[in-house]
Amino acid sequence: MSKKLFYKMLAVLMLASFVLTACGSPAPAATEAPAKKVWTYADMTIGFLQTGSEGGWRAANTASFKESAEQLGINLKFYDSQNDLAKQVAGFQQFIADPEVDVIAISPLEAAGWEQVLKDAKAAGKPVILSDRRIDGNEDLYVTFVGADFVEEGRKAGTEMCKLLEGSASKNVWELVGNVGSSPAIDRGKGFRETAEKCGIVITNSQTGNWSIVEGKQVTEAWLKESKDVQGIFGQNDEMAFGAIEALKEAGLVPAVDVKIISVDATAGAFQAMLDGTLNITVECNPLIAPQVYEAALAALNGETLPKWIPSIEGVFYGDDPNLKEIAAGRKY
Ligand code: AHR
Repeated sequence: MSKKLFYKMLAVLMLASFVLTACGSPAPAATEAPAKKVWTYADMTIGFLQTGSEGGWRAANTASFKESAEQLGINLKFYDSQNDLAKQVAGFQQFIADPEVDVIAISPLEAAGWEQVLKDAKAAGKPVILSDRRIDGNEDLYVTFVGADFVEEGRKAGTEMCKLLEGSASKNVWELVGNVGSSPAIDRGKGFRETAEKCGIVITNSQTGNWSIVEGKQVTEAWLKESKDVQGIFGQNDEMAFGAIEALKEAGLVPAVDVKIISVDATAGAFQAMLDGTLNITVECNPLIAPQVYEAALAALNGETLPKWIPSIEGVFYGDDPNLKEIAAGRKY
């Protein structure tokens, strides 16, 4: 076979394999990135750590989580921390270890001490949403906080107490505080002092009533045994204010008249007390925030970036409002 013919045939072969590669045989398949999962509520299992069941506000908040989970078709794992911090931390670790749980939401009993478990959740790839109460610490360790500006709630209460005590010779106010170390207790106290002290209000007693009617009453009774020189009571929630109202009545003082009373939450019980004329004002703290928490959880799973705070919408309600009855009738909690 002549050299010429050999090189011609070689050229033809090389041309043929080039054409085949370019057009014919399937090139080895490139490793396509698997399609990015788009989460839906039906896919999502959320582990929610509730504080406990300390009153009307908390009951409305829990119902908001359970009812809207059902409506949205979300698998909700609800953990009742029974107002015990150690139980709440243990529940958090349980959800980190639980393979079914995709995202964790928590209403922290106290503001401090969450750094380590938040780091563990991050290491486990589980987004964390703070619900209702904020924590002290690095906000990079959680996705967002859905809830109220408790400082602003306190400021509102202080401003309203100034108006109620306008012209009063002395402005001694007693404060019933929420559970020690919790963000609402810390922040409402701070906000109240910020505005109340501007009009000369003096906080002559301040103690925790642990958000409860019973303790609110006991603490107020103890103060009344020492002195009746009080012109106002600031209950950091409705229940503690209800306890103070009972104590004042039993001490022969007229609540909302002899002693002005302002609470926070605006639950149905507060509207009834205002209609009864025993409570002057209630500053709203909205418990119906579960849909916003679920929305944030889903967005987090789908890799969306969220603002670090998603505020809840709140108002102030007055016992002397001519439309109080209608307003009360239209309330959801
Ligand atoms: O975190 C919100 C507070 O918790 C409410 O004001 C109080 O009623 C509840 O216990």
